Formats: sequence, C-alpha cells, structure tokens
Amino acid sequence: MIAISLPRLTARINALARFGGLPGGGVTRSCWSPPHEEARAWLIGEMRAAGLTTWVDPAGNTFGSLGARALSPETPAVLTGSHIDTVPEGGVLDGALGVLAGLECLHVIHETRTRHAKPLAVAAWSDEEGRYGSLFGSRAFCGLLEGNVDEMAAPDGTRLVDAMARAGFDAHRAADARTPARAVSSYVELHIEQGPRLDEAGIPIGVVEAIVGVRRARLVFHGQADHAGTTPMERRRDAFLAAAEYALKARELVVTRGGPRAVTNIGVVQVHPGASNIVPGRAELVHEMRDPDAGVLERLARECDALAREVAATRGITVELRPMSATTPAPCAPRVQSTIEAACASLGLASRRLYSAAGHDAQNLAGVTESGMIFIPSRGGKSHRVDEMSDWDAIERGANVLLHTLLRLAA
Ligand code: GLV
Ligand code: MN
Ligand code: MN
Repeated sequence: MIAISLPRLTARINALARFGGLPGGGVTRSCWSPPHEEARAWLIGEMRAAGLTTWVDPAGNTFGSLGARALSPETPAVLTGSHIDTVPEGGVLDGALGVLAGLECLHVIHETRTRHAKPLAVAAWSDEEGRYGSLFGSRAFCGLLEGNVDEMAAPDGTRLVDAMARAGFDAHRAADARTPARAVSSYVELHIEQGPRLDEAGIPIGVVEAIVGVRRARLVFHGQADHAGTTPMERRRDAFLAAAEYALKARELVVTRGGPRAVTNIGVVQVHPGASNIVPGRAELVHEMRDPDAGVLERLARECDALAREVAATRGITVELRPMSATTPAPCAPRVQSTIEAACASLGLASRRLYSAAGHDAQNLAGVTESGMIFIPSRGGKSHRVDEMSDWDAIERGANVLLHTLLRLAA
C-alpha cells in the first residue's frame, strides 16, 4: 500500500522550523514578515522539486498542484492545505504540519505514479492566525473578504496594506483571489488537535465534525491622563481600571450566558502613555470570544458591547468599540468525514469524531465545497506555545490518513 516517507516529512518540518525559529525552541513567523516570505520561497522550491506546478494568488495563498496549472471548474481539484504563518512564540506544527504533509502526499503520489482522476493541490493559506484579520487568505479565496483592507491592522498598529506591500503584494487586489465556483471538488486539512482529548483517550485520529466561530473586537477606553502622585484618587478617570473591570465582567458574562462550549480571552492589552507615574489616559484591549453557534456569538457580542458602555459610563469615561473579525462556525461535510473514516479503517486506525475549538481555514472552505479535517493528538494537549509537539509516529499516521483520504476523494 502506498505510504508517505516519514524521514522526508520530518526533514521538511525541521527545515521550515528554521524560518523564524527561536533560540529556545518554537517559532515566530507572522504572515508577510521576512521569515514568512523566506519560508514561502523555500516552500515553492520544495513543491517544484517534488514535481508540482506552483502559483501564488493575489491574497498570497501559495499553491502546488499535480494535474492543474490553476483551479478551474472544468477540472475541479481535490484540495488540501493549512498555513505556514504562526502565532508569536508558537510551535512548529500548527499549520506547518498540514502544508508539509499535503506536499508529502502529492510528492509520493507523483513519484509512485499513483492514479488520481481529479487534479490534486496543496495550499498554504495566508495569515491563518489572523494577525491582520482572521483566516485572511482563505477568506479571500472563498469570497468572504468584507470591509476595507485599508483599515486592517496588527495589534501593534502595522497596517496590512504596508505589510503586504513590503512582501510584494497589493492588499487592494486580495479579493481577486476568489476561486471560480465549483473549481474545488473537496477540501481536507490535516492539523494537530491543539487540545488534550485525543492524547488523553489514546485515540490516533480525530475526524472533525464542526469548527468554532470566533469574534474579535478592539475596545479603546478613553479616560484622562493625570499625575499619578498629585491627582486625588476620587478625581481620576483611569482608562486601565475600566478595561480591567470590563475584562473580569466580560469573562463572567461569556461563561454564564454563552453555550456550554463558549470561551473567551483578552490577549492584547495596551496602556497609554505607559508610565508608572501617569494615570492611564487610554487603554486598549483585543477581546476574543468563541462558540459553535453563530446566533449565540452574535448575542454575546451585543451583550459585551453593552457591558463596555456601562463600565465606561460608571467610571465617567468613554469607550470606542471596533469590531475586528467574525468567522462563521461551520459543520464539516458528512462525505469527507466518512471518507476519512474509510481511510482510517483501511489503515487499521481507530478514530473519534470531535469538535474543533480552534479556528481553521477549512471553515471558510466549507462555504465553497465539501470540507473536512483530520486531527492527530497534541502531546499534553499543548498548542500556541513553544513546546507544542506531537509524536512522530502520530504525525506519520495522520499523514497516511491524509494520503488515503485524498486518493479516495480524487478517485
Ligand atoms: C487558530 O489558531 C485559532 O486561534 O483558533
Ligand atoms: Mn492552525
Ligand atoms: Mn494557531
């Protein structure tokens, strides 16, 4: 039976980890940054060396294909992929695994001349981690880019248009990446689970049933900067304290009023001017919340907006609410799920259906084709941290399940 080459996949995972690699392990490779663009050039070279035809679309999505020069409804392709950007101080597998395992599958299919009726392609989607906006590349590909790209910016204020320009892309053309209708026959993505369920249950393969929706908003509390020694306590209009009160109350709100799977996080906090002897005049938060139900998310977002206004008013200050992104929760296609299970059965591997609490490009692809995901266990359930890892035999099993799923979908 055809199988992937683990040594070749391992070598590529280790090679990619050098771009943006950190001295103590892990990697920081944000989309459009110099290490990301060096990684893209390296990836294109690897794809070509593996016998694939390559192209990059106006949103920076990078493709390698067997049997197609572009995606077209005349010959719909079976697509796999993931992303090569990472969170700051992230692990080496989140995203890289799905791209490099996809490349390995196409490489081995090419060199063994294994028959596939439909073209096959692997994609590295741009800015999956959403430094400038959630799942940017796959949103552009699926025709879901809304709003003004001029307003998209990273937490440190870097504008998307400038970051893309430095990498040689025109952000105003990103929407041209939209795929023609019916050009993708199906999509399947291999990813680490990023949580503890498979690892703790000792189950080698997860078959994703549905993917969470994520909403992010920037809240800017405007108070009054003042001398931190001389201003009487009762006269202060401290923007940070309002942000802190909001953070605690918003957590309580999401946990008590969201669905059983609702979660929330505030991962970016900035205080201005940022000196120990100045009462903060401005405090900015990026508030994220997740739920599998779009209606629940919508309601939570409205309730959190009202909470922010109430907290600000009580403290005699104002708040600006700027929505940043909203991804849609998505069910995975039953046919892709059953094809993954058939591939597992043919390889003698147990599997379990599960829900993804992490966002993935597969949820955007679900709007244009039958889409699904394969998960492998994450050691200790750790992810978005430098010690994120999976066992190499788990990686080999996942890549072989991807290979046989792709072959079945492309038959
Ligand atoms: C993707 O990594 C996410 O934040 O869910
Ligand atoms: Mn990922
Ligand atoms: Mn991630």
